[in-house]
Amino acid sequence: MLLTCPPEISDAIARSDLHSLQSYIARQEQILLDRGEQLAAAQRQLKAFAIDFRHVRRSERERANEVAQAQEETAVRLLKASRFRDEETGAHIWRVGLYARLACQRLNGSGRYADRIFRASQLHDVGKIGVPDAILRKPGKLDESEWALMREHTRIGAQVLDGSNSPLLKTACRIAATHHEHYDGTGYPNRLAGEQIPIEGRIVKLADTYDALRMRRAYKPLLDHATAVAIILDGDDRSRPEHFDPQLLRLFETMHREFEEIFRNCGDDAAWEL
Ligand SMILES: [Fe+2]
Ligand SMILES: [Fe+2]
Repeated sequence: MLLTCPPEISDAIARSDLHSLQSYIARQEQILLDRGEQLAAAQRQLKAFAIDFRHVRRSERERANEVAQAQEETAVRLLKASRFRDEETGAHIWRVGLYARLACQRLNGSGRYADRIFRASQLHDVGKIGVPDAILRKPGKLDESEWALMREHTRIGAQVLDGSNSPLLKTACRIAATHHEHYDGTGYPNRLAGEQIPIEGRIVKLADTYDALRMRRAYKPLLDHATAVAIILDGDDRSRPEHFDPQLLRLFETMHREFEEIFRNCGDDAAWEL
């Protein structure tokens, strides 16, 4: 690299003016020292910014965790409230969560999403909070006007869960609203059909139906596994195979034994918690 000197230095060299050369070098050293200090100050400032940034990120993460915990707690408290009103046991709710998670995993849902389905599906009947006791706890069959009120639990559940930012509660809202819709459009409350019904609703429809068939209720005896499977796959006077997502029905044919195992392992006498 060709170095060029200022003309006065070239002159000083030519004149062998040592004093001028020394003072020039001293000035250049001072300039370099000043720049070094500026650089060090800039580095100190950058380090301070990095520390501040880490603090902000940490407190954001802490806030997000607190919000997630609060949302989780909301879901748990809603579930506890709903159990005071529901004729169904905690074991039913727990099993529906387990079947739904299994079906979701088989559909290749991510582990995180399947876990969310597991929790959200347990709130499927939270709307029964708003159904009168006389209907909810009636020992015999419901008449048509009572059924109309009972069917409202889907709308009530959706209203209770609506408006949250939480992915868990949003999913629970979709499930509460659609777990009684039928794939062929004959369900309630909105007669949605096919893909209009969110996948979570279609999954919980299958899980809830299997478990409801297996359980003893005031108005029906418990059914064995083979009978419950036959009703879902072939239909009876109330249920039709067309009520279910065909893809889920094919899946059910391959995994109903695992449903049976869940039912056997999670009995009604156990105290299951969300
Ligand atoms: Fe329901
Ligand atoms: Fe249920």
